[in-house]
Amino acid sequence: MRLSDDFISEIKYQNDLSDIASNYIQLKRRGRNLVGLCPFHNEKTPSFNIYSENGSFYCFGCGTGGDVITFVMKIEHLDYMEAIKFLAQRAGIPLPEDDFDDSTSRMRTRIYEANREAARYYYANLYSVQGKNALKYLHDRALTDKTIRHFGLGYSLPSRFELVDYLKEKGFTNSELIAANLAVPTRSGNSVVDRFFDRVMFPIIDLRGNVIAFGGRVMSDIKPKYLNTSDTMVFSKSSNLFSLNNAKNNKDRSLILCEGYMDVIALNQAGFTQAVATLGTALTDEQALLMKRYCDEVIICYDADEAGQKATARAIEILRRAGIVVRVIVVPDGKDPDEFIRKNGDKGTAAFKNILNNSGNDIDYRLFKLSSKYDLKTTSGKLSYLSDAVKVLATVDNAMERDIYCSKLSDQVDVEKNSIKEQIEKELKKRYKSYKKTEFSNIQKSLSAREDRVNTQHSSYIRAAAAEENLIAFLVNNPDKCEFIANRILPADFVTDFNRKLFIYFTERINEGKEPMTAISADFSSEEISQVVRIITSYSTITATTEALEEYINKIKEEALKCSYKDKESVSNDDVDDFLKKMRENRR
Ligand code: GTP
Ligand code: MN
Repeated sequence: MRLSDDFISEIKYQNDLSDIASNYIQLKRRGRNLVGLCPFHNEKTPSFNIYSENGSFYCFGCGTGGDVITFVMKIEHLDYMEAIKFLAQRAGIPLPEDDFDDSTSRMRTRIYEANREAARYYYANLYSVQGKNALKYLHDRALTDKTIRHFGLGYSLPSRFELVDYLKEKGFTNSELIAANLAVPTRSGNSVVDRFFDRVMFPIIDLRGNVIAFGGRVMSDIKPKYLNTSDTMVFSKSSNLFSLNNAKNNKDRSLILCEGYMDVIALNQAGFTQAVATLGTALTDEQALLMKRYCDEVIICYDADEAGQKATARAIEILRRAGIVVRVIVVPDGKDPDEFIRKNGDKGTAAFKNILNNSGNDIDYRLFKLSSKYDLKTTSGKLSYLSDAVKVLATVDNAMERDIYCSKLSDQVDVEKNSIKEQIEKELKKRYKSYKKTEFSNIQKSLSAREDRVNTQHSSYIRAAAAEENLIAFLVNNPDKCEFIANRILPADFVTDFNRKLFIYFTERINEGKEPMTAISADFSSEEISQVVRIITSYSTITATTEALEEYINKIKEEALKCSYKDKESVSNDDVDDFLKKMRENRR
């Protein structure tokens, strides 16, 4: 069943897009619009626009656009019905019950429920007779019962039917358990068995408190050491972080990024609740954008081994790109944070606090790493170091910060500060040029790729498509002119199919007395919505005169005629006369 327009209108009316968006990003007023850094891709100059007058957004960088419902779907990774629920709850609007039996959203709800039951079950196991060893394992790793409870840690029993049997008893079906990745089909395919067995279990909880996945650790040397839930309908490992649900409430707007679950848990127990970890993969741009919602600064605290240091270099780049200030901690004596805190016993908190306070920022860290590569006592060593260091300093956006490093560097290698500065300026210019170039070509690329996908005829009929888009924008912004327009041009006159579809869609809605844009997020795909918003918003400032309107209509008809003749190899004189006659009629 379809949601009524009245209901969707109410949802949109009660949830102002700029209010919602400002929970995730900072917005500034620019003319009638609000602008900010796009939450859907990495950028340094704002190209994300909110058009308050019609409640839509569009990013000129990545081409994502839509209304408040689309925004919530994308930023919270929800499907349409879930986004509606989210917004209805936020505004205290009751839901029309029967409309919410959509099967994907029902399956997701079942997965959440199965995961929650599983987490409870695993937790209870830990305190049963069979869980004695697992509990001892966690206690031996210095975790208190309070911490175990806080993170909902647990134990999956050795038999491969325990959880499956338990959850089936509770009414879950095989396909639900498979969809949750709690169970896997047996080779024969006739039944299912537990995915996790004989492991210490770490539930992964999202920002709304749903258990979305698990990590499970063996207590012996068996490989793999950790087994994680594969991606499911409710879980994507590259877009979630372990313990962000705890860390997000941190007042300092600062997060500590670790490698492992145990590091995060040990840090929490020691009072550092701002710790998060990736879920067994390298840090992604998506995770950086997610962190940016809750912090301005990330302190990377990876393992001291070589792999950890390599990962640090990568993470610095990704976090910087997301506009986050980065600091780096190298835990002394080649340890990870968990071991470090444990080794320091009662003084663990103070000891970690100390290295936290002494952590350098990413530039210090990178300069330090560079300087240890060269022999700074020799001239050639100094020169090589300088030429690398200048490249690092050119990545610093803040001029004052750059200046401070310049002084430090000048002291360190005993070279005039001004000549270092000169080199940095050169490097900066080079970087800026290439940055602008890639930014521009990315926009171009995404623009043309997008248009090819949504309106595949766009590139063949550029002029016709432009006129059609102008007309559609005019129509949506001036629904009172609908009848006038409908008398002058028919859907059949449209050259490109996608724009024809839009024209039919909007005229139908207007004729039924509905607001044109209200239901777009239900009626179009995510790429189509972006395109619709781009069309509507990029022309809305054009003065809506009847002359302009006439011009669009004539242009479309003219182009339609042209292309109906374009493909013919031989055109007779009669055809030409006919064509010219029609052209003249159109112009009148
Ligand atoms: P402990 O040995 O329990 O202290 O683990 P750790 O957190 O120190 O683990 P390590 O540094 O080896 O790995 C860091 C993170 O990488 C873990 O928390 C896991 O998320 C992930 N990881 C480690 N080993 C595996 C593995 O075998 N498979 C997968 N998928 N992930 C792993
Ligand atoms: Mn460890």
